[in-house]
Amino acid sequence: MKLLSLECVRFRNLARVQLEPSPRATVAVGHNGAGKTNLLEALYYLATLKPLRATKLAELVTHQQESGSVAGRFLLAGAERELKVEISNGTRGAYADGKRTAKFEDYFGGVSVVAFTPDDLVVVKGSPEGRRNFLDRAVFNRYPAYLAESRAYTKALKSRNRLLKEQASVGHLEAWNETLARAGARLYVRRRALMTELGARASSAFGRIGRTEGSASYRYEPSRLEALDFAAATEEQLAGALQTALEQRVHRDLERGFTSAGPHADDLELTLGGESARAFASQGQSRALVLAWKVAEIENLRDASGVLPLLLLDDVSSELDPDRNTFLMTYLHDSGAQTLLTTTDPSLVRRAAGEGTVWLHVEGGTVTKMPPP
Ligand SMILES: Nc1ncnc2c1ncn2[C@@H]1O[C@H](COP(=O)(O)OP(=O)(O)OP(=O)(O)O)[C@@H](O)[C@H]1O
Ligand SMILES: [Mg+2]
Repeated sequence: MKLLSLECVRFRNLARVQLEPSPRATVAVGHNGAGKTNLLEALYYLATLKPLRATKLAELVTHQQESGSVAGRFLLAGAERELKVEISNGTRGAYADGKRTAKFEDYFGGVSVVAFTPDDLVVVKGSPEGRRNFLDRAVFNRYPAYLAESRAYTKALKSRNRLLKEQASVGHLEAWNETLARAGARLYVRRRALMTELGARASSAFGRIGRTEGSASYRYEPSRLEALDFAAATEEQLAGALQTALEQRVHRDLERGFTSAGPHADDLELTLGGESARAFASQGQSRALVLAWKVAEIENLRDASGVLPLLLLDDVSSELDPDRNTFLMTYLHDSGAQTLLTTTDPSLVRRAAGEGTVWLHVEGGTVTKMPPP
């Protein structure tokens, strides 16, 4: 898969950007606040329909403007595909080859990206929410249907939470437990499938990157699903177990005003030498854990679909120590993947930038081609 061209209109501070990236490495260079991350975010949004940072869609549109858009042409299995997403008045329209797509699956058609940002680097030490998000982005990449599935779950969850806040009767809540449990079981199954593929790969990638004693493990197992063999349970059994948990916790949930069991309350457990990485890993080790996960994700997508994802790296070189940065840059170069990197300092990414690298200069929301620095 290759990105052939990208166009952003009124996307954050990018008034109008048109570019043709290299099939290999494209490096966007610019000062702080220039618009480098905005450029990556535009591409990430186009390829996933999930904002990289924003919490509200309207944030993606240039201030004081009503609408903005991102469009790109991709080469997929020999055929061209044009994707476009328009954001206007806080809503989104997604188009594939000029036609509005109703279902997410019709939109993506095999486009996948793996992004690597400084926010990812703090995931190990951060909140469970950050790690769930981290996990979910990987699940979505592998199973695009997951986007609709997780939205269905969130919708059911919000309804139940609203009833809890309104102090609805237990009988009334019970009607929602089943809907929520079914939607939740789908997420368990997807996350479990992803972890089956990715867990061992990530541990092995950590061995290559970590330069540290002890091995790493990545584990997902839902909390609060008692008396169940998670690895072996069917989706039906998982739904049953979650429904039981919801029923058992209904009084507690009514007291607190929110739902306390379900995939939205789970965590991704990372360990190093058998100990919790959140509690004990050093900063360098934490970063290596994240890096290994991303490398595993790239390799897993490649092996599952035969296609290398597009890689987006936002200023990560300045966050890694020199050895790990060298590993990453050499890895990127050798992988053959199409990569878009941002940096304030070109010397940090030179190793990833082989022949044919396209260099871009970003300043005040404009992007222009520049000669190799
Ligand atoms: N919706 C928006 N409309 C207009 N400008 C915006 C919008 N959202 C963000 N910006 C502006 O974009 C700029 C930040 O861009 P961005 O985060 O891409 O910078 P950057 O080049 O990645 O900088 P750094 O090197 O510090 O990471 C800020 O000046 C911010 O105010
Ligand atoms: Mg930035």
